[in-house]
Amino acid sequence: MKGLILSGGKGTRLRPITHTSAKQLVPVANKPVLFFGIEAMADAGITEVGIIIAPETGGEIREACGDGSQFGVTITYIEQDEPLGLAHAVLTAEPFLGDSPFVMYLGDNLLQGGIEDLVKAFEEGAPDALILLTEVDDPQSYGIAALDEDGRVVKLVEKPKDPPSNLALVGVYLFTPLIHDAARAIKPSPRGELEITDAIQWLVDTGRRVDPHVVVGWWKDTGRLADMLEANRLILDVIEPRIDGELIDSTVEGRVIVEPGAVLENTTVRGPAVIAAGAKLSDAYIGPYTAIGRDCVITNSEVEHSILLTGSKVLHLEGRMESSLLGRNATIDRSPRQPRAYRFMIGDNSDVGIL
Ligand code: DAU
Repeated sequence: MKGLILSGGKGTRLRPITHTSAKQLVPVANKPVLFFGIEAMADAGITEVGIIIAPETGGEIREACGDGSQFGVTITYIEQDEPLGLAHAVLTAEPFLGDSPFVMYLGDNLLQGGIEDLVKAFEEGAPDALILLTEVDDPQSYGIAALDEDGRVVKLVEKPKDPPSNLALVGVYLFTPLIHDAARAIKPSPRGELEITDAIQWLVDTGRRVDPHVVVGWWKDTGRLADMLEANRLILDVIEPRIDGELIDSTVEGRVIVEPGAVLENTTVRGPAVIAAGAKLSDAYIGPYTAIGRDCVITNSEVEHSILLTGSKVLHLEGRMESSLLGRNATIDRSPRQPRAYRFMIGDNSDVGIL
């Protein structure tokens, strides 16, 4: 069994963060989303992992994941020239996959509980494909499956206007090499992509067995800010507390990780929260569900339910900052200069909410 992680694509919904960084490297509880997928593979005993990368963001993904030894796997990078769809990514990876069955994991997805049981069910049941499904409130945003009365998959549609059910395809799939024939047989969709849903539909239409598996735990596609914050909340809820940084006149309550080299002075942290190495917090309040990245600075401010990427700064805010995502080295500061005014330098597609 091999692993294929899709980490190409464009990431348009997380701009401006993804103007400069791969969306799969945006951290959840201070760990890149992509790492959760690689770790899930390693935990399921999969050691040969291919990662699909785009020409623009492939470099930093290679740099972050290396040869895979930090995860106990061997990584092969596979460049996809253009994001022409998930089934196109499978075809691009065919030389790596050969005739091996494989788990395909979308690099911006997070699945609670790992994939070990799924790999076992796939190996024991020997279907042609195994797909994961979960009920969603907004079926127009996902690939949707319809099942018949016996629970068999009969129809799959990508982002339907008129959804046949509310069962969304979760971004983890188990395939036999037959999927390559399926991907070759289909045509691009109206959005110009070779859709994996169409390839799976081809399997159904040609009489192959596609087993559905309804997910019991939580699943998140982290493509949008609200989902990212929700994923952050879910992961922080289960961290093992650990205080290795320096606390000066500070209070830490609940599930909190303070990494070595972080310094908290006259600060209160109410977990769940993580504070990375090199962070400097003074006269601050950090509320639940906050992940503070490496070398961040928070001075005389309150931050809650937010993700701060490496090197970002929050200084002297009057109101509490919440439900926010700050990109690398972004600064929010209260300016003492006259005239009293808002002063911004904001990248394309940024979103700022002021009091
Ligand atoms: O998250 C689950 C959904 O993922 C499913 O319900 C849909 O059926 C499936 O099509 C997919 O929809 P998205 O629109 O969310 O896919 P997205 O374009 O975000 O791509 C998913 C991942 O695959 C992401 O990490 C980028 C990567 N990718 C995407 C494309 C189109 C590639 O590596 N190559 C590509 O060509």
